Amino acid sequence: MLRRATHPVAESRILIVGLGLIGGSLAAGLRAAGYVGPIAGCDPDPDEIALGIEMGVIDEGDTRLEAVIDSASMIVLAVPVLAMESVMGELSPLLPRATADVVITDVGSTKAAIRDVARKVFGRVPANLVLGHPIAGSEKSGVAAANPELYARHKVIITPEPDTDPVAMARVRAIWQACDADVLEMDVARHDEVLARTSHLPHLLAFSLVDTLARQDERLEIFRYAAGGFRDFTRIAGSDPVMWRDIFVANRDAVLASLDDFENGVARLRQAVESGDADAMLAIFSRASHARHYFESLLNQTSYQAEYHMQQHGKLRYRVTPGGGVNGRIRVPGDKSISHRSIMLGALAEGVTEVKGFLEGEDSLATLQAFREMGVAIEGPHQGRVTIHGVGMHGLKAPSGPLYVGNAGTAMRLFSGLLAGQAFDTELTGDTSLTKRPMGRVADPLRTMGAEIETAEGGRPPLRIKGDRALTGITYDMPMASAQVKSCLLLAGLYAKGETRVREPAPTRDHTERMLTGFGYDVQRDGDTCWLTGGGKLTAAPIDVPSDISSATFFLVAAAITPGSDLVLEHVGINPTRVGVINILKLMGADLTLSNEHEVGGEPVADLHIRYTPLKGIDIPVDQVPLAIDEFPALFVAAANAEGTTRLRGAEELRVKESDRLQAMADGLGELGVENTLFEDGIDIVGRRPGEAAEGPSYGGGHIDSLGDHRIAMAFAIAALRASGEIVIDDCANVATSFPGFIDLARKVGLSLAEEAEDGDGEGA
Ligand code: S3P
Repeated sequence: MLRRATHPVAESRILIVGLGLIGGSLAAGLRAAGYVGPIAGCDPDPDEIALGIEMGVIDEGDTRLEAVIDSASMIVLAVPVLAMESVMGELSPLLPRATADVVITDVGSTKAAIRDVARKVFGRVPANLVLGHPIAGSEKSGVAAANPELYARHKVIITPEPDTDPVAMARVRAIWQACDADVLEMDVARHDEVLARTSHLPHLLAFSLVDTLARQDERLEIFRYAAGGFRDFTRIAGSDPVMWRDIFVANRDAVLASLDDFENGVARLRQAVESGDADAMLAIFSRASHARHYFESLLNQTSYQAEYHMQQHGKLRYRVTPGGGVNGRIRVPGDKSISHRSIMLGALAEGVTEVKGFLEGEDSLATLQAFREMGVAIEGPHQGRVTIHGVGMHGLKAPSGPLYVGNAGTAMRLFSGLLAGQAFDTELTGDTSLTKRPMGRVADPLRTMGAEIETAEGGRPPLRIKGDRALTGITYDMPMASAQVKSCLLLAGLYAKGETRVREPAPTRDHTERMLTGFGYDVQRDGDTCWLTGGGKLTAAPIDVPSDISSATFFLVAAAITPGSDLVLEHVGINPTRVGVINILKLMGADLTLSNEHEVGGEPVADLHIRYTPLKGIDIPVDQVPLAIDEFPALFVAAANAEGTTRLRGAEELRVKESDRLQAMADGLGELGVENTLFEDGIDIVGRRPGEAAEGPSYGGGHIDSLGDHRIAMAFAIAALRASGEIVIDDCANVATSFPGFIDLARKVGLSLAEEAEDGDGEGA
């Protein structure tokens, strides 16, 4: 309802040509949105017009266009695709009788054919003709089925031409948005391709299945028992036959292409069934089942991919009440780095890998989905449990399209190495943030190994990786301390001839080396260099993913800065290459102790116990920087609450994370009133003055832009514990990439925060 009110329709007279379900529902939706101007209808069937008037959907109507065109400011062509030519032909000479600024739009399900008709009739696509297509419908037809809610929360695709008038586009958007639809733009060819796959093909299959079964003699018997699957699958076979005939005539080529893909898919499945190939069946079914659940969650928005959420519904905002406590015993989700690697190595191993504690965040799920797309059967995740049916070093299959890894830099960089060694070509893409991140750091050394990789300008994604290249091991002196680059090269090295050696300028996380070793692959290390020899194999081994110390950090800092806090974080990974945050907090004077230290699957874990005590500012030792690289947003909040100044240098890598984290944190802290000075490779943050009461608020509230960076969002959420006013944080949906359930855990320990859509729909704390 809210959106309806914000999109008033300023048309002086709307004419709907074709008063069926689609045109009638638009009229009904406009009425329900409070449009009070005249709506006229034109339809060859006088009964439909009479019914439309009786229902109050239109004010007047006629079977002839010339009788209703006068002073129309918006003309909506809602006729079947194949009727478009005669309707446009009739309309063209009458247009001078409409308003001077008349806008014309249509609702046809295929766009290229309608564009061709417009060119034929008008000589070109007029600038005031905005082709459009509401993706909504029903198996019912006629104005009697008109439903004012038909377009609510549905998409309308408009397919403008390069010279379509932007004002005309805005007016077409407005009528659909008034009906509570989400309007997006696409070019004509893409629209037809997408619709062929997502709408035309399923209709074709439903029509065909029902027709095939209905022709069989015992059909009554069959239909009597056909509930459940049959009913769900074939509902759309009840749709309007004329409309669908027109669509298949008009979108012939795109439909045939999608039918070819489908036939290949059925042939593969047939083959699996025929030969009793249980693994192949499981791979296909689990990939489809996962994709269907993912699709469902997009539809229901129970969880979402951040980018989708942003495009469709505006961004997600956190609103955090100042103050609160941090107490209790919690367990944060599984380690992101280890979760990514568990899928990668599990897929390439021989045998079945059982994973416990897998992070069900969007980043690691993107990795999991990518391997499904390369033919790996993966069960789960179910409460952190994943079963991977390894296909061996050379068992991956070419995916049918680009692999989309969302926000996950780790996935893209590690994949680039692993895919450089495959027999097939691949393309890696990601979301807007990832598309800005540097990939030359992996593409360059991979090229020296013999890989062929194309990047977009400036070494940015997408990456196009050529398969079937002979790789040769190299010795690489990494210019930056990056575990992603190191891991990428080691993974490529598995496929390379000879030794691949990587020297790191400072120690970085060594999960790849540990896990390779756990899977029986010989990885050597001498000082700052590690290496392996290509051509070996991996053997499946169980993996127990510890809780992510990077996620635990937000609560460690939360407790460290909040008077009265006493918190235990269980089963946290304390790999020596990840414990920078523990060392830094201890140097700042934090009361932090480790207990129950033990090892799970080659990774050390412990329970972390932290109690409040006032912190002091420090110069952060440079050797701790790579060991705490993801923890700085939270550590800067600790610094803002410490006595004196905290100085960080040697941290230029922070500028190329999910956002420029030095800049994002400097801006956000500045907004709260925390004094800071930014340097190219670091920052000085001024905390409390000496002698200032440690218990009062440390800074003000304010409005922060997280820039879609999950760790910036969470850092400012915990900052509110010591703020004097509310902290509002924009663009927080990406928290789901690394820390699903953050809000719930934060509330559980004593923070008071709510999430809401940035356009203002609130959800209470
Ligand atoms: C990661 C390495 C780090 C880290 C990232 C995860 C990994 O990146 O920031 O979140 O899993 O290897 P860099 O290697 O680019 O420093």
